[in-house]
Amino acid sequence: MEGLREVLIREARKEDLDQVININLVSLKEHYPRSFWRDHLMLWGKAFLVAELTSRVVGYVMCRAETGVGYLRSSWRRLGHVISIAVHPNYRRRGIGTKLMVKAIERLREYYRAEEVYLEVRVSNEPAIKLYEKLGFMKAKVLRHYYLDGEDAYLMVRETS
Ligand code: ACO
Ligand code: ZN
Repeated sequence: MEGLREVLIREARKEDLDQVININLVSLKEHYPRSFWRDHLMLWGKAFLVAELTSRVVGYVMCRAETGVGYLRSSWRRLGHVISIAVHPNYRRRGIGTKLMVKAIERLREYYRAEEVYLEVRVSNEPAIKLYEKLGFMKAKVLRHYYLDGEDAYLMVRETS
């Protein structure tokens, strides 16, 4: 009956990090030391969210808040930076990634006053690029050889409101 249950999007807690890190390991080539996850939880916990389904963590989004020159306006702005998002392979394509992104953007605006939100994504990562485009993100530029294996990234960005 799992399919009938609602996914809960909530702030991540320290006890979730094992599950979050596992989802990252099976989903992406970009991995981080545990201290990196812990630091983001401590510093920008209002925008570090997990998706919970039947008491299990099935997805996460980890962000940070920065200040810099905007990509949509060349003035000094508060920026939200989506560092990493993933949904466990068994739970994809049911709107969980969308829910995580929508809530993260909302919270980057509300708690950290972010005006723009941006992220980097592999140019070959069609599922993620489609998700971001559906949410109104634009490709602002190509970052050549952004990844360790040499692949390029799109830097994608949108206003938070
Ligand atoms: N193929 C084509 N389009 C897709 C796919 C796919 N496999 N998956 C998602 N989309 C697009 C579709 O338009 C979809 O809408 P639809 O289902 O109505 O057609 C839309 O995105 C929303 O899909 P969701 O169900 O909300 O997304 P999901 O929960 O599956 O999560 C995610 C998407 C996070 C990209 C997932 O595929 C994943 O974990 N991938 C591996 C990790 C990854 O690539 N993360 C992003 C890296 S970049 C970064 O972290 C900043
Ligand atoms: Zn980044």
